[in-house]
Amino acid sequence: MRLIVVVGARPNFIKVGPLMPALAEAGIDAAIAHTGQHYDASMSDVFFRDLSLPEPTWFLGIGSGTHAVQTGKAMIALEELFDAERPDAVLVVGDVNSTLAGALAAAKLHIPVVHLEAGLRSGDMSMPEEVNRLVADQLSAMHLTTCAEADENLVAEGVERARIHFVGNIMAESVLRNLARIEDRAPCRDSYALEPGSYVLATVHRPENTDHPERLAAIAEAFLGCGHQVLFPVHPRTRPLLAEAGLSDAGNGAGDIRLVDPVGYLDMLALQRDAVAIVTDSGGVQEEACMVGTPCVTVRRNTERGITVEVGANRLASAETDSVLAALTEALGSGGGWSAPERWDRDVSARVVAALQGGIIPLKGYV
Ligand code: UD1
Ligand code: UDP
Repeated sequence: MRLIVVVGARPNFIKVGPLMPALAEAGIDAAIAHTGQHYDASMSDVFFRDLSLPEPTWFLGIGSGTHAVQTGKAMIALEELFDAERPDAVLVVGDVNSTLAGALAAAKLHIPVVHLEAGLRSGDMSMPEEVNRLVADQLSAMHLTTCAEADENLVAEGVERARIHFVGNIMAESVLRNLARIEDRAPCRDSYALEPGSYVLATVHRPENTDHPERLAAIAEAFLGCGHQVLFPVHPRTRPLLAEAGLSDAGNGAGDIRLVDPVGYLDMLALQRDAVAIVTDSGGVQEEACMVGTPCVTVRRNTERGITVEVGANRLASAETDSVLAALTEALGSGGGWSAPERWDRDVSARVVAALQGGIIPLKGYV
């Protein structure tokens, strides 16, 4: 089987980390097409290095832009590539614009689409990711899901059960495999002079928080008032918006915010493991917090990762100072001890391989 694996943005690289070696071991001829949606060394190269990923066979260099510009450029480049290569299937991951572009370009060429992390739904159509998920899933021939709820979401949208494979969460497999490699790694101490168990780790990059200065300012105020140092690796979309929200690196001392550049995957895992709590609006970080045993607060109106709330690892807060502080107090008092969701284990990539080897049912009309 010849498979093109489409990636473009930071969380995509991590999802294919455990997948590429498993595909190679199974004799599946899989090659990476990197759209170039994320391109800074700290948003792309570092993940290929940290995860020992094979170099992309194709780098399409599409870069940043509005949704239509970015998705359109990626579709044009991917269509040309798929048409020339004619793979047996195209595998897309997650919910970014590159995922949507890959699914659309392949479907128009009648190439079966396999969607890894299918079926997640926030129910919030103002999220670009929700649009991407809905469309990618409608166009996919095989749906690989992280939780039983995702299966039910797909069935409710008319996807046949035979196309759905509950493989588990590949982000969890990546955490489990890589935590074992970084037992001695302590970037909190070595790079940021923070003791393990003494700081809150924060990431904020969703437009619903970053594009409203008053919301970003309210979140920052919660960080300043939380009684812990807050280590905040800043996503490039958030960086230029910080000043408008009144956020600047406040220096050292209890209750201060440390703004730092995005960190690599292995450092990020270690920082999550060693934090006293995590405040985030990231999809992947909610899942990783659940796996490393650190209580999480998600500053969003909703989450498609509801299972992390169900097991007791995560709770929602609105982008208001009191709400974030109340959720953080609850998280700090929660004591941990939850169990990982079903099939968030080391065998996810093996289940993906088994599903692919079982055969992809073409969509109606494909010959
Ligand atoms: C994208 C995804 C989002 C995901 C996030 C992961 C979409 C619609 N959104 O959001 O779901 O959670 O990636 O990180 O696909 N930029 C740089 N350097 C880079 C990349 C981006 O400076 O290497 C800046 C540019 O100013 C760019 C902005 O970040 O305009 C936003 O990048 P973009 O890829 O459009 O969306 P993200 O916010 O990163
Ligand atoms: N991540 C990282 N360095 C950072 C911030 C995040 O390695 O500075 C990792 C994080 O551990 C997770 C992934 O990036 O594996 C999540 O990506 P992101 O939050 O950008 O996107 P989302 O998951 O929200 O789509």
